[in-house]
Amino acid sequence: MITLGIESTAHTFGIGICDKRSILSNVTDSYSGEGIHPRLAADHHARVSSNVVKKALEDAGLSIDDIELISFSQGPGLGPCLRIGATTARALALSRDLPIMGVNHCIAHIEVGRFLLGVRDPVTLYVSGGNTQILAFAGGRYRVFGETLDIGIGNMQDTFARAIGLEFPCGRQIDQLMSRGTKYLDIPYTIKGMDFSFTGMLTEAIKHIHGNSKEDVTFSLMETAFSIVVEATERAMAHTQKDELLLAGGNAASPRLREMCRLMCDERGASMHVPPFDVCRDNGAMIAVLGMTEYDSGKRMEMGETKVRQKWRTDEEDVKWR
Ligand code: FE2
Repeated sequence: MITLGIESTAHTFGIGICDKRSILSNVTDSYSGEGIHPRLAADHHARVSSNVVKKALEDAGLSIDDIELISFSQGPGLGPCLRIGATTARALALSRDLPIMGVNHCIAHIEVGRFLLGVRDPVTLYVSGGNTQILAFAGGRYRVFGETLDIGIGNMQDTFARAIGLEFPCGRQIDQLMSRGTKYLDIPYTIKGMDFSFTGMLTEAIKHIHGNSKEDVTFSLMETAFSIVVEATERAMAHTQKDELLLAGGNAASPRLREMCRLMCDERGASMHVPPFDVCRDNGAMIAVLGMTEYDSGKRMEMGETKVRQKWRTDEEDVKWR
């Protein structure tokens, strides 16, 4: 079944196309203003949507007549952004008389890893701007074993980057600064049970900017944040007795986060898996893969059920395809 997937939860408007065997195309166009203004990001998505659809069809060597299912990110995410994706999905489905499937964005990050990398039953560490969560399948649902109580690591990183004068997107520059830091400054290690928070350590890091090198402050902040999530991930793996780790989200590109995860997995005799960056970050291909997977499991969605769900949690969804 050739499926077109639409991603629009936050910065990125993405269209991906897949069939049962592979991803055929995956095109993204991201809003790049300072921080994220939901309405301006939504305006961006509306402006680029038809070109991104066109490019994804071209890259796949297909026409719209070849598409058999439309899938879209129904939540969680920013309302104005989600609504552009949902409207695009409804317009395509209605005009071509195609079935439509709204899917959970966080679950899509997991399922694309299972689809591409053959991972069976991982604990997933999902680290991005808006989300930082530890997810694993248990009792018929993807349960949240640990999560941020305030902002995602990506948002923490972006705010810190602005404070030291870097421009968005800043991921690579932060990775470089971090790798050159040598002195560890005192940063609060804010983990409570399996949950964690990042605003306190961000405030502390910003206080350290005066009187210390950017490298040392960046190193101290990021090393602390990554240590916290890797510690909680290890506990989730021990508790669930799962022996695969899947890294997902834009921050999975960080070499130091990968290194920490690899060390932890090696010590446990577990395997670690990271999808290529263009399917690790927010993208349409993962939405196509999950829509196709759910449709194949027998799930169907009426047009009246396609309203966006800004606060949709992974553990609210019965997983029928596993
Ligand atoms: Fe995401």
